[in-house]
Amino acid sequence: MSTLNLITQYTQTALSHLPEPAQDLLHHPTAQKAIGVLAALTLLRITNRFLSKRTLQNWTSNQPWIPARELILLTGGCSGIGKQVMEDLARTGVRVIILDINEPTFSLPANVTFYKANITSSADIAQVANTIRENHGDPTVLVNNAGIGHEGTILDEPEEKIRQTFEVNTLSHFLMVKEFLPAMVKANHGHVVTIASMASFVALGEIVDYCCSKASALAFHEGLRQELKYWYNAPNVRTSVVHPFWVRTPMIKMLTDHEAHLKQPIMTPQVVSDAICKQILTQTSGQVILPASQSVARLVRAMPTWMQEGVRTFASGALRRMRIAQQAEKEAQA
Ligand SMILES: NC(=O)c1ccc[n+]([C@@H]2O[C@H](COP(=O)([O-])OP(=O)(O)OC[C@H]3O[C@@H](n4cnc5c(N)ncnc54)[C@H](O)[C@@H]3O)[C@@H](O)[C@H]2O)c1
Repeated sequence: MSTLNLITQYTQTALSHLPEPAQDLLHHPTAQKAIGVLAALTLLRITNRFLSKRTLQNWTSNQPWIPARELILLTGGCSGIGKQVMEDLARTGVRVIILDINEPTFSLPANVTFYKANITSSADIAQVANTIRENHGDPTVLVNNAGIGHEGTILDEPEEKIRQTFEVNTLSHFLMVKEFLPAMVKANHGHVVTIASMASFVALGEIVDYCCSKASALAFHEGLRQELKYWYNAPNVRTSVVHPFWVRTPMIKMLTDHEAHLKQPIMTPQVVSDAICKQILTQTSGQVILPASQSVARLVRAMPTWMQEGVRTFASGALRRMRIAQQAEKEAQA
């Protein structure tokens, strides 16, 4: 008996157990058409997911994840999201190295090592890279997480702060990859994780430099994928990009201090860390938008102009309200 006949037989048996009015409804031609459309859409969705997943993995399979074989290098591991990722990964037994410009103010798990480094300096990176290789070997996972955000309109923000935003949030990714990717390419094994932001998709007033740097971080991730595939012939080196919306960390203290005016959801670092760790531990390439309910953000630039402008206006409005509230508080205190 063919599979189709089997499915039809099972469906008819299942239907015969339903109450008569329900059976009549399901036998109606319109209901049958609707069921057909639903089934086709479901099949399309499953096929779409399968193709996306396999394409991102370059149609290759993973070696099993063996913690003892892996070495994770995480920038900005002394605060916020990076600190949470460090703690969560350390709990799985894998060795983690954190690079940060600031010393940790907490004690580190036994399998975590801290090195002080400014990731915008190639000299600093080269020096710390030698120490890492001597003491631990080559990192197999690089998480470009360290980031900064300054406030101020284009006209107000000092040039050095604008330059620093690009240096930390974008240029450092080039410097870190130049130093640590060659070993991954040689072994055809590894993972580069880029922590971008929802700002990669939506540019807001007062943080224009930040949004530019995060749009660049996304472009960096996309271009890196191409080079790994077509230039370096390393299809097993995975790449992920993570785009969180607001996260409760010291970086957005100005916003969390005036949260009532923001009226937008703020995630915990744990939510973001869970997503990052999942990409790493399952060795899965991908683009992760957090919270998932905001995934439509990636479509903003494909929307009609009036809608795009509406999204940016809505998001900028929250920052504007915040600034007005902050100024009012300052004036009241003066
Ligand atoms: N907090 C949010 O709302 C939010 C939203 C989206 C994306 N992000 C991104 O998440 C990442 C982590 O941010 P966070 O919110 O945890 O911020 P955070 O300020 O809590 O932590 C950033 C860490 O990076 C380190 N760092 C900064 N400059 C450095 C440098 N030159 N060299 C080495 N280390 C440096 C800092 O010392 C700090 O430990 C950043 O890339 C940020 O842009 C944050």
